[in-house]
Amino acid sequence: MRRPMIAGNWKLNKTIAEACDLSTTLAQQLADVTAVDIIIAPVFTALSSVAATIKNSPVKLAGQNCYPVETGAFTGEVSPLMLKDAGCDYVIIGHSERRQLLDETDGFINQKMLKALEAGLKPILCVGETLQEREGNQILEVLTAQIKDGLVNLSADQMAEVVIAYEPVWAIGTGKTASDEQAQEAHSFIRGMLQGLFNQQVATQTRILYGGSVKPANVDGLMAMDDIDGALVGGASLKAEDFMRLVRFQAQ
Ligand code: PGA
Repeated sequence: MRRPMIAGNWKLNKTIAEACDLSTTLAQQLADVTAVDIIIAPVFTALSSVAATIKNSPVKLAGQNCYPVETGAFTGEVSPLMLKDAGCDYVIIGHSERRQLLDETDGFINQKMLKALEAGLKPILCVGETLQEREGNQILEVLTAQIKDGLVNLSADQMAEVVIAYEPVWAIGTGKTASDEQAQEAHSFIRGMLQGLFNQQVATQTRILYGGSVKPANVDGLMAMDDIDGALVGGASLKAEDFMRLVRFQAQ
């Protein structure tokens, strides 16, 4: 069985003090959770301070991005090694905001995947179509390219460390969520792709998160779908009460 994961992407929000307040609350109030992987991704500057507040708790740390080189003359970048050093176990890679605002390509994202794995980080690879692509019936084509090109040269063994997040761009930060069925359809397609690219075991074991306006009001329905193994959450992860309710989802 796939272990559920609820991951909070804090994006460009919270000072170090604010981030530590939230992480301290989560660490204390979610201390009893054993059946769900709980991840938070604060800004880089808050990582090591937040890491100290969640020690010995079920809450784990992720970077929001990384650069695919260990060290060197790359002003302003942060490497997987540095994220590990700051206390991260995970890193979000290929978020649609980076694809759109910073023109990240699937090839560049693939390099990040490989370097993150090499450094011992578990990558969360984000994929998903824009509204225009959905309306143009290009969903499967877009997902196929993003998954295939994002996972080039990864081995089936490495896939045990990889999490995929399906995040339709039109649902991110808009309040519009994909319906449970729309999300399930995309997840099941992605799982089928993993079988073709790797094998049945990889397809069965890989966790696929849904992202895009996940909130307490819709989490239970989404989590009840067969191929939805968790959520990658932006807005609702910034409020302790909401995020804790997501971690304590009630899938029927
Ligand atoms: P949202 O963001 O929950 O605010 O829609 C999700 C994401 O970007 O990961």
